[in-house]
Amino acid sequence: MSGSPKRVAVFGAGYVGLVTGACFADLGHTVVIRDVLADRVEALQRGEIPIYEPGVADRISANTERLTFTTSVTEAIDGADFVYVAVGTPPTYSGDADLSAVWTVIDELPAIDKACVVVMKSTVPVGTGMKVRHRLDERGLTRVGYASNPEFTAEGTAVKDFLHPDRIVVGSFREEDGDAVVALHGGIDGPVVRCDVASAEMIKLAANAALMTRISFINEIANVCEATGADVVRVAEGIGLDRRIGPSFLRAGIGFGGSCFPKDSLALKQLAANSGYHFQLLNAVIEVNDLQKRRVIGKLHRHLGSLRDKRVALLGLAFKPHTDDMREAPSLVLAGRLLAEGADVRAWDPIVDGRDLHGVEIAASPEAAADGADAVVIVTEWPELTTVDWASVAASMRTPVLIDGRNLLDPALMQAAGLQYEGIGRAAESPEG
Ligand code: UGA
Repeated sequence: MSGSPKRVAVFGAGYVGLVTGACFADLGHTVVIRDVLADRVEALQRGEIPIYEPGVADRISANTERLTFTTSVTEAIDGADFVYVAVGTPPTYSGDADLSAVWTVIDELPAIDKACVVVMKSTVPVGTGMKVRHRLDERGLTRVGYASNPEFTAEGTAVKDFLHPDRIVVGSFREEDGDAVVALHGGIDGPVVRCDVASAEMIKLAANAALMTRISFINEIANVCEATGADVVRVAEGIGLDRRIGPSFLRAGIGFGGSCFPKDSLALKQLAANSGYHFQLLNAVIEVNDLQKRRVIGKLHRHLGSLRDKRVALLGLAFKPHTDDMREAPSLVLAGRLLAEGADVRAWDPIVDGRDLHGVEIAASPEAAADGADAVVIVTEWPELTTVDWASVAASMRTPVLIDGRNLLDPALMQAAGLQYEGIGRAAESPEG
């Protein structure tokens, strides 16, 4: 750590709060993570980590003398130099972000008699920082600073993304508050972007919108590839080598999910609409993503006709590999559609237990899920699926149909294994097949 150790209170012990707290403790700061859920706090105090996120548990256990958990606001705030807000901002019925948990944190702050900075880590609509500033001023907390320091960590690589970021964005009203937040990140190498609070808030929303746009773009290219005989995997490779385009986020598939993209796209769409702007491109990105999940059902129809009483195995349930997160996972839409069509659905995931998926039978292995099935769908690209003996899976199926929703496997090898393979945006029959 290059600066002096600070006291950091983190409000919210979810993915973002735990990663933020664990990483700041690892940098040498003293951190108190506060959550309203007593069960969660007690579990954390016992050393049980309620999320699956590589590196978080190790960092929490390596820093127990500097990292504590509490339900008490007073205890968390005591002597804090920074108050990080890392609570959830889920969408409301109207699509706006629900900021009630953010306002609870702000309103519960006691009269703080030392200079400290409230730092917004949660993703919030542009303009939220200004409203928080007014609220703090109304309460006489004029010495309390405010900064926006959005997170750009992806689940599964959050600790690495936090400690080796592409950039650290710090927006503040007062120069010294921004300086303090930058200094808190001493020891982390990465370009710092200093700006006003509204721009920092927009950088977060615009970054996610740009990434989602790339995914929906490549998914539409994939759909045109299917209609014309091109292979989107080769196309993505070919366009990604153009330095102006770059290779990331060009994996075609069954669409994006997770706790961030779907929620943030709605929040940005609503933010624009509330300001009188119809964000056409973003609307299209969202619609393409919704339809992309459902195209799998069309593919199954083409292979099997009616899905009534057909057995379909879903391989992978989490919204992406290396996480147990099921929020807005495409598997939820697929399972729901398949059950509605009268199919018999079995699923496997190496981490998600699937207990909440009513009507879906959970299998202990990909092989067990596929046994006797009419079709297998790869929903999440878990690496385990690359080492499955697909020839013996094909032999155990009633109809050997494999829909590869993530283009994980080699079409020619799958056909050689006896499967009727169909990916996303790839020729159904490989040239070699
Ligand atoms: C995303 C961003 O990548 C983070 O930078 C951001 O901080 C985070 O949201 C957030 O706002 O908190 P995350 O949702 O964890 O992180 O996961 P990603 O790895 O970005 O994947 C999101 C979805 O896009 C997944 O469903 C994934 O399968 C899909 N995806 C991603 C594709 O379909 N194709 C791709 O090429 C890349």
